[in-house]
Amino acid sequence: MPATWWRTAVIYEVYVRSFADGDGDGVGDLIGLRERLPHLRDLGVDAIWLTPFFRSPMVDGGYDVADYRDVDPSFGTLADFDAMLADAHALGLRVIIDVVPNHTSSEHAWFTQALQSLPGDPARQRYHFRPPTPDGLPPNDWESVFGGPAWTQVPDGEWYLHLFDPAQPDLNWDNPDVRVEFEDVLRFWLDRGVDGFRVDVAHGMVKAAGYPAAGLTGQIGLLGRRVLPYFDQDGVHEIHKAWRKILDSYPGERMAVAEAWASTAQRLARYTAPDELHQAFNFEFLQANWADPAAVRASIDSCIHAAESVGAPTTWVLSNHDVRRHVTRLGSLERANAAALLMLALPGSAYLYQGDELGLPEVLDLPDDARQDPVWFRSGGTDPGRDGCRVPIPWRAAAPAFGFSPTGAAWLPQPPAFAELAADRSSTVELYREALRLRRSLTGPLRWHESPDGVLDFSRDGLRCVVNLSRTACTLPDMPDSEVVLASRPIDGGALPADTAVWIFARTARSS
Ligand code: GLC
Repeated sequence: MPATWWRTAVIYEVYVRSFADGDGDGVGDLIGLRERLPHLRDLGVDAIWLTPFFRSPMVDGGYDVADYRDVDPSFGTLADFDAMLADAHALGLRVIIDVVPNHTSSEHAWFTQALQSLPGDPARQRYHFRPPTPDGLPPNDWESVFGGPAWTQVPDGEWYLHLFDPAQPDLNWDNPDVRVEFEDVLRFWLDRGVDGFRVDVAHGMVKAAGYPAAGLTGQIGLLGRRVLPYFDQDGVHEIHKAWRKILDSYPGERMAVAEAWASTAQRLARYTAPDELHQAFNFEFLQANWADPAAVRASIDSCIHAAESVGAPTTWVLSNHDVRRHVTRLGSLERANAAALLMLALPGSAYLYQGDELGLPEVLDLPDDARQDPVWFRSGGTDPGRDGCRVPIPWRAAAPAFGFSPTGAAWLPQPPAFAELAADRSSTVELYREALRLRRSLTGPLRWHESPDGVLDFSRDGLRCVVNLSRTACTLPDMPDSEVVLASRPIDGGALPADTAVWIFARTARSS
């Protein structure tokens, strides 16, 4: 198997507007990111993935792109991007950027043109405009992932499709203009030197012919997995094959990771066939039920096998900008750190979300008037949405806005508890740093050991990873000539407390 960097990489997600604010307006930006790159180098990650920083009205935090070839003024300029990229590369960090091909912003020039055109005009055919039903209703029953119908009517009576917010009209990928445009956008950024792309909604670009009814009985959420006529259609694979050819035509092992949701691990693996994208996020692991350790183990096995079936590396992820942070989801920082040591010992590539390394929890008590996620608005305030995992990062316990911005401004309020978790104080950073350093020596496959209920125990090369997800302490395996090199919290003697993970190395393996 070729030793390309992305097969084992730790990739750190930078949610740009919440990472670091350089100009003091309370919104993270590229200057702020550039200043904080040394933190990421010291953490030991291989690459960073930047969420969209393109020109956007910011209805969905930048996942509503108005111009794919320019930086939004709130994030800086193209020159700021180039300077950040050069610094990242000089520090040995690769840079992956988000590409959002399923939909544009409603302020994109194409959509403005479509609205100014008559039904049937070629400008409308870049999107999904449809006439109403004879009863004047939307063309079908499709629902938006953010809540409500997936169709919005324009004054001349036609409806346009938006799987997300009405400000995010879906592109029509049957239209050659769309394919040509995005291939050019990829080249624009590859020419600037990016190392690859995270492909947003990579399973959504192609819709079933004829817009068949979904027969929805309820709402599909971001974590939904139902088979729907607008997700995971076979036609998307042609697009990914074309993109792979473009990536391969550049030197330097450029890569792409799919944000794709499929009904089975096998269908997801199709996105990472050798002639398609390099990786796909493994949301099965993210959604695993940690109350059932046997299910976590089974999901690890099934994900590894599915990826192996197409020769791709598995990816692992516990948190991102769309889900409740795992410290909160799993119930405690102790359990979250145990899960992190488990994840970082697994074969393949791992994704960290900014703040994981600080042990940040979800912020559950944001004031309603501070919330900005369209999920909150589209659900009529019944779903709090995703702002709670997007609260600006605390860097310094004693600084205004905990060092997020020089002025103390922050686009979402940070809770006082962030002081103890700031990068200059958090006790979790060192755990991640050490885990990332040690994992570099791991190359082999995973081998499970017999273990008591609730305990996961496996080896990789000279590493033995034991994770106690049960409610009581367990004994550590009796391993002569070995030592606990890393523990998710201090341990005492031969017992492993509940919600704790350890990495044990054979002394000989480490010294060789
Ligand atoms: C992806 C993004 C999410 C965004 C959605 C629409 O799921 O991760 O943040 O809201 O796509 O672009």
